Amino acid sequence: MPESGIKEDIDFKKILQANSELGQIQDIDILLERILAVARSIVNADAGSIYIKQSVVEADGKTDMLYIRHAQNDTRQKLLPPGEKQTYPLFSVPIDKLSIAGYCAHMGRIINIQDMYHIPEDAPYSFNSSFDQRTGYRTVSSLTFPIAADARLLGVIQLLNKTDRTGNIVPFSEEDELVLRNFAISATHAMERAYITRAMIIRMIRMAELRDPAETGSHVNRVASYSVELYDRWAHKHNVPERERTVFRDNLRIGAMLHDIGKVAISDAILKKPGRLTEGEFLQMQEHTIHGASLFRDSLSEVDSLAMEIALTHHENWDGTGYPGWIDPTSGLTVRQDEEGKPVGKKGEEIPLAGRIVAVADVFDALCSKRAYKEAWTEEQVLAQMRELSGKRFDPEFVDIFFEVLPMIKHSRQLHSQNLAA
Ligand SMILES: [Fe+2]
Ligand SMILES: [Fe+2]
Repeated sequence: MPESGIKEDIDFKKILQANSELGQIQDIDILLERILAVARSIVNADAGSIYIKQSVVEADGKTDMLYIRHAQNDTRQKLLPPGEKQTYPLFSVPIDKLSIAGYCAHMGRIINIQDMYHIPEDAPYSFNSSFDQRTGYRTVSSLTFPIAADARLLGVIQLLNKTDRTGNIVPFSEEDELVLRNFAISATHAMERAYITRAMIIRMIRMAELRDPAETGSHVNRVASYSVELYDRWAHKHNVPERERTVFRDNLRIGAMLHDIGKVAISDAILKKPGRLTEGEFLQMQEHTIHGASLFRDSLSEVDSLAMEIALTHHENWDGTGYPGWIDPTSGLTVRQDEEGKPVGKKGEEIPLAGRIVAVADVFDALCSKRAYKEAWTEEQVLAQMRELSGKRFDPEFVDIFFEVLPMIKHSRQLHSQNLAA
């Protein structure tokens, strides 16, 4: 559209598609990753990172901080084997005038820098080149913009190294600023919605947590993140189409958070019993799978059906020795029974994919964590146990995948041990 002064290389179709796609993502973590990827693709940025605003309350008052939540870098990604992901340093910066991201958030202003190594001397902020020094990456152009609508600031996106059609790094243009300013409004709305969804889920989990203190917001967040890492690698290996992956990982993240929600229906006498459970108590405890599944029995959406599947099957064992076995969660009736009339355990691929994934993620996190009845295990003990349970408790394919994505899993563990609500 040359008459409006906007260059023809801005892909308006891509922007429209992006807006509608963001509207469909429900989980905040999946959304943030996607927002960054889409922002980069709209203006062809080689790399970028996304930060969320979070207030830290201390004795001497409240400080607004920006926490990094995702970083992407195509140049560095190409150096990795296919399917592998990059980790990035986890850090936060105060919202003040000293860092570029902090300044952008503080002033609510877009900052467009042609060359990070030649920032005007009178600028209040400076460029932290430690990433370049550590990795050999050369940052040149950058565009940092607030994720905000009206006066509500939710975070900041920093894009690096805009690349032209011939692969040269060029400065970000005024058109880029304009397009991203609009994109930021859609991103803000999508994030606000996803925050509401997350808050509702965390509230449900707190209800279960009142019963079982081990089921905390950070435990379920970690289990959900590990599950997504396991699934991503599996989906890569099995060539799952991109669209299907996007939908599944979004639903999986939410469903995995709710894996033990059925514990709301188990009595305190059992959940908080300090010693070993009797056989009868253990049988009652196992029912949290059926109670959890029945919460989603109306199955209004895909996320409901996946949450139901996960709640029901996350304690099934690959070798068929798990629980609750072949039971219909809606009617409570046994579908397949042994000679004693007990439900037969699901085994192998009878256990739905999401149930097999969450089993690995949940057990790993429980082993790493201190519980009322046990100390946290050492990493060596945990990893040995994960191997040991391959083919018994776990699908062997997912144990192999677990070891392949272990660096990402450890990264998620650190990310979700930060003191954040989201
Ligand atoms: Fe459970
Ligand atoms: Fe759990």
